[in-house]
Amino acid sequence: MKIIMLGAPGAGKGTQAQMIADQYKIPHISTGDIFRENVKNGTELGMEAKKYMDKGELVPDELTVRILLDRVAKDDCRNGYVLDGFPRTIPQAEVLDKEITEIGDKIDYAIDVDVPDENIIRRMSGRRACLSCGSTFHVEHIPPKQEGICDRCGKELVLRDDDREETVKNRLGVYHEQTQPLIEFYTKKNILKTVDGTQDMQDVFAAITAILES
Ligand code: AP5
Ligand code: MG
Ligand code: ZN
Repeated sequence: MKIIMLGAPGAGKGTQAQMIADQYKIPHISTGDIFRENVKNGTELGMEAKKYMDKGELVPDELTVRILLDRVAKDDCRNGYVLDGFPRTIPQAEVLDKEITEIGDKIDYAIDVDVPDENIIRRMSGRRACLSCGSTFHVEHIPPKQEGICDRCGKELVLRDDDREETVKNRLGVYHEQTQPLIEFYTKKNILKTVDGTQDMQDVFAAITAILES
């Protein structure tokens, strides 16, 4: 099963993608997590990506596409994957479509996690992220069992550099301009499914599994 998660920054793509990955035993691939890991490890890619991420802008397509295609070519992706944060522009979607069609394959679903902008600004300031395994928590809505510690891998949780209010506003603007057109792109391909992302995370997940198992 090959799934794309769409949605604004903070809509809950990562939260849901991780749940899908656990349930269906497929890898969760987040371009944002790959970039953040590279930033943390001080790689050349990380230093390049950080210039854009800290401003809330998109990392150039050329760089992002290369990273993603390398990742989905790995062995663990043979039975499927859930993409979180990719594609994010029409050119990215077109490249993915071309590559996947060439190997005689297809994306099964593009799931749009729909959350209005007002809710997002409130969510982001409470988010805490694990830069080791990519898990996310929320100080009020989804608190970790032990404050400041990742439930999944035991490492320290941090506030992401790009979660400051001004940067979040910029990310939302970039989303509406460059990423939202993908909704029409995947509607035309007949694989778009929309779920209400303002519900409790378990209810969002139930809506998603209902789609995947229908
Ligand atoms: P990326 O890491 O993809 O960030 P994003 O799209 O801005 O999305 P977020 O990770 O912020 O949100 P999310 O939807 O995953 O929400 P989450 O589950 O954490 O990208 C970061 C940057 O990398 C980009 O700005 C760009 O620079 C670069 N980049 C990445 N991919 C790229 C690409 N393809 N092309 C170019 N550049 C790229 O949830 C948010 C919070 O809400 C959490 O605290 C969570 O616990 C909480 N929450 C989740 N669900 C619920 C719920 N149902 N109710 C209440 N709270 C909830
Ligand atoms: Mg995320
Ligand atoms: Zn972790």
